[in-house]
Amino acid sequence: MKIGFFDSGIGGATIFKEAIRKFPANYYYFADTLNMPYGTKEKEEVKKFAFKASEKLIQKGCKIIVVACNTATSAAISDLRREYKDIIFIGTEPGIKPAIDSCKDKKVIVTGTTITVYGEKLKKLIDRLNAKEKVELLALDKLVKFAENINTDNNEVVSYIKEEFKKYDLKDYSSVVLGCTHFPIYKEVFEEVLPKNIKIIDSCEGVVNNLITKAKSLDFESKESLKINLILSKYDNEFISNFKKIIKIDNVNVI
Ligand code: DGL
Repeated sequence: MKIGFFDSGIGGATIFKEAIRKFPANYYYFADTLNMPYGTKEKEEVKKFAFKASEKLIQKGCKIIVVACNTATSAAISDLRREYKDIIFIGTEPGIKPAIDSCKDKKVIVTGTTITVYGEKLKKLIDRLNAKEKVELLALDKLVKFAENINTDNNEVVSYIKEEFKKYDLKDYSSVVLGCTHFPIYKEVFEEVLPKNIKIIDSCEGVVNNLITKAKSLDFESKESLKINLILSKYDNEFISNFKKIIKIDNVNVI
C-alpha cells in the first residue's frame, strides 16, 4: 500500500514527520515547489494545482492521499472526492473544535492563509459549531514564505508574529489555532511570543490518527518498512535539505 501526501511545499512535512513514525509505509510526498505559495492565489487556481498533485500521486499507485495543506483542503477536497471515488482523501482543517470545546468564556484566534481563513469551508465549520462570536480570523501568509526560506532569520519571524497579534487583548483569548501546515514549524516561536495563557493548537495529530484509521479500514496494517519518496514540481536543493531536517531522516528518494 502506497500513501500519498501533498502540500504547496514544506508545510505538510509537519504532519508527515508524525505519520512516518507512527505508521511506517511506502510514502510519496509531493511538494508543489513550482506553484507555492497557494494561500494568496485564486481558489480556482489552487484547485487545479490540487488536481495535478493528486494525479501525480495516483499515477504512483497511492490509494490514500493526505491533503497536508489547509488551503488545498479548503479549495479542492470536495471536488477531489467527487472526481476520484476510489481514492481516500484525508483533509487538513484548522483545529477549531478542540479550541472551542476548551475555551470556556474566552475567545479563539484562528490563523491560516487568506484562502483558508476567508474561505467558505471554514465559515461553514464555524457556523456548524455555532462559534461565530467566539472566533477571530487572522491571515498570516508571510509565515509561509518565512518557512520556505531556509535562511530566514528567527528575529524576523518573532517581529512579524508580535506585530500581527498587537491588535488583540490576549487575556480575552484562550488559544491560537494554527490553520496552516507551515505554521507548526514556528510553534515554539508562537509559544515564546504569546502569553502563557494562550494554548497553541495544530491539526497534526488529528490528521495522522485519521490516516491510520482509514488505512486500517482498508485492511492495511503497517508491517512494511518505511520508504520515503519525494516528488518536487521544481527541483530545489535547499528544499530537499529543509525537508530532511524537518522530518529528521536523511534517507529520502528524490524523484
Ligand atoms: N501549507 C499550506 C496550508 O496549510 C499552504 C500554504 C501556502 O502555500 O500558502 O495552508
